[in-house]
Amino acid sequence: MTDTLDIKITKSAQSRLQETDFDNLPFGKTFTDHMLVADYADGEWKNFEILPYGPIELSPAISALHYGQAFFEGIKAYKHADGTVSIFRPDKNARRFNKSAERLCMPTLPEEVFVQSIAALVDLDRDWIPSKANHALYIRPFMFATDPFLGVTPSATYKYMVIIGPVGPYFSKPLRVKIETQYTRAAEGGMGYAKAAGNYGSSMLPARKAAEEGFDQLIWTDAKEHKYVEEMGAANAMFLLDGVLITAETKDTILDGVTRDTVIALAKEWGIPVEERKVSVAELIEGAKNGKLTDAFGAGTAATIASVASISYEGEEYFLSDPQTREFSQKVFKTLDAIKYGQAEDTHGWNYIV
Ligand code: COI
Repeated sequence: MTDTLDIKITKSAQSRLQETDFDNLPFGKTFTDHMLVADYADGEWKNFEILPYGPIELSPAISALHYGQAFFEGIKAYKHADGTVSIFRPDKNARRFNKSAERLCMPTLPEEVFVQSIAALVDLDRDWIPSKANHALYIRPFMFATDPFLGVTPSATYKYMVIIGPVGPYFSKPLRVKIETQYTRAAEGGMGYAKAAGNYGSSMLPARKAAEEGFDQLIWTDAKEHKYVEEMGAANAMFLLDGVLITAETKDTILDGVTRDTVIALAKEWGIPVEERKVSVAELIEGAKNGKLTDAFGAGTAATIASVASISYEGEEYFLSDPQTREFSQKVFKTLDAIKYGQAEDTHGWNYIV
């Protein structure tokens, strides 16, 4: 056990909770009453503070704005029927947070400080956690460089912040996805494995072009040949092909997703063979044609388990089975929900109780 983190708390004068419409919660638009802020300067983290949610003042010269020294995490907290609040596997996010920090030449944060800071904020705003099915409190920790200096060099000062908000499902229907063969999300030696802000910024033009063609998401392929599947939108791509769960192995172009890891753990427990390896576009298209591709979904914190309705490749659209009839992803979805909402025993120790 480590010492409890010292956090100065200034509560908001008036809560916005009563005026929030919990029947209409599009992802990422509603934030709770408070946020957490800490500063990095002189080689250490200090000034941990929870204060009313609101704008912050920054120099227009901060290097995060100019050179993208910025990254984030995504986590969810859930309310159980008995009122218990749990955060799903925040230790995994803490480790990935520091991997991102190292890749971007930014300071790491002790894992227990990351988890405690999040738990303190969630605890204060726990009344904001929706109790409806498929709803949760989304937690967005992030860090950015704050030196007001235009030299291309790592900043000496940073801010770590956490904002949180109630959310409903990220996707409202099964996805029509397109295999992207022109743009890439990440290249070997790059920073695809980090949750760098720039990775998401660079995905927007290809995603918009695909949306103009009527697609909901892209399946990213490798930067060299566009022959191997990497990720799906902002989630990991997972498939059940001929009874085997296949997904790209974690490497420098792939995000080490918490949901991905959780799905793999469950599949192994259920005796389903799992292969983390190069997944070729050719085998997926073949599977879609001959019916051996029985499941396909994006796995992510925001996306949860996002079913793929159809896969398009080189102008041809291949429809998969009705997502409601897919045994594997339905079972994953139900099992995960039961654990997260405290309806099933948490035998893996995945729930961090606040
Ligand atoms: C998450 O699943 O938390 C993500 O990071 C995706 C987000 C960019 C919407």
